[in-house]
Amino acid sequence: MENNKIVQSGNSERELALKIVGLNKTLGRKQILHDINFEAYRGEVFGFLGPNGAGKTTTIKVILGLLSLDEGSIEVSGVDINKKFEKAMANIGGIVENPDMYKHLTGIQNLEQYARMRNGVNRERIDEVVKLVGLSNRIKEKIGKYSLGMRQRLGVAQAILHKPNVLILDEPTNGLDPAGIKELRDILKGLAHEEGICVMVSSHLMSEMELMCDRVGIINEGKMLGVYTIEEMISGSRNGTAEYIFEVSDVKKTCTLLEGIKYVVIDENRIDVEFNKETARDDVADVIQALVTAGIKVYSVSAKENKKLEDVFIEMTNSGGAQIG
Ligand SMILES: Nc1ncnc2c1ncn2[C@@H]1O[C@H](COP(=O)(O)OP(=O)(O)O)[C@@H](O)[C@H]1O
Ligand SMILES: [Mg+2]
Repeated sequence: MENNKIVQSGNSERELALKIVGLNKTLGRKQILHDINFEAYRGEVFGFLGPNGAGKTTTIKVILGLLSLDEGSIEVSGVDINKKFEKAMANIGGIVENPDMYKHLTGIQNLEQYARMRNGVNRERIDEVVKLVGLSNRIKEKIGKYSLGMRQRLGVAQAILHKPNVLILDEPTNGLDPAGIKELRDILKGLAHEEGICVMVSSHLMSEMELMCDRVGIINEGKMLGVYTIEEMISGSRNGTAEYIFEVSDVKKTCTLLEGIKYVVIDENRIDVEFNKETARDDVADVIQALVTAGIKVYSVSAKENKKLEDVFIEMTNSGGAQIG
């Protein structure tokens, strides 16, 4: 799998699990997906965020092989689903609608039933997944007695029985109470961060993505608006920059001293200066020193108010699909 490993900044090597290129899909007479592109890695929770009707379920159905694709390619751990469908599907598990379950059977009986349809799932693996989804205490109870959250977790257990590299869940927290959401969230994070699975989760709630995901891909009206780390989305800095507002006695003179630095003049006293996030602290100190040395009074310096994920999301989905970053 050497060619599926790509080196990311910070020397961390991540293994590509899901590669989506140029996905187009028309249903009926309507083009639902327009050139969808993104990549997701093993060991991360990848959020797929978009308002209702954005095309999340359609995209997920195409990835899971439940809908055909019109154009584009999908690779699961380096295997093209159009060329080697079975092999690609062996590395992917997912839940789109409510998972099929037998209410009159117990949790463990359901898993056993499901395991029979999958190759190479032994007793040991069944016990392992039960533990992974935190159902050990209740697994011998009939599903009819399960809460929605427990059923959802059993669905996850079912979906990972065959040890896929990729687990995809379509709006898994819909209908769950806050406690159920937290339990599921912790389980999914564990599967990604400890078991090394690439967990892709869709949602229309940005607040949920913020707590659950490492990175978020945003889809709106069938188009990808971008993929961002949670940190980038929350800070409002999508390219490793940090902005500071300088309040000074002489903006004009300040501008002449800021050669080579990106800035925007706000008014006669304030200027918005952009720094590289990594070096911002020292850079701010240097600029203050330069200004003071030049006889300019510095009344205040403040980090630009950080935008919340929710604001960024609303801004993006309201802007008619404008690209950011
Ligand atoms: N079978 C279908 N035929 C025609 N249009 C569909 C079909 N399924 C979904 N759509 C449309 O595709 C768009 C995306 O739907 P969907 O993928 O379900 O979005 P999401 O999951 O993000 O809410 C919506 O406008 C929806 O009405
Ligand atoms: Mg949907």
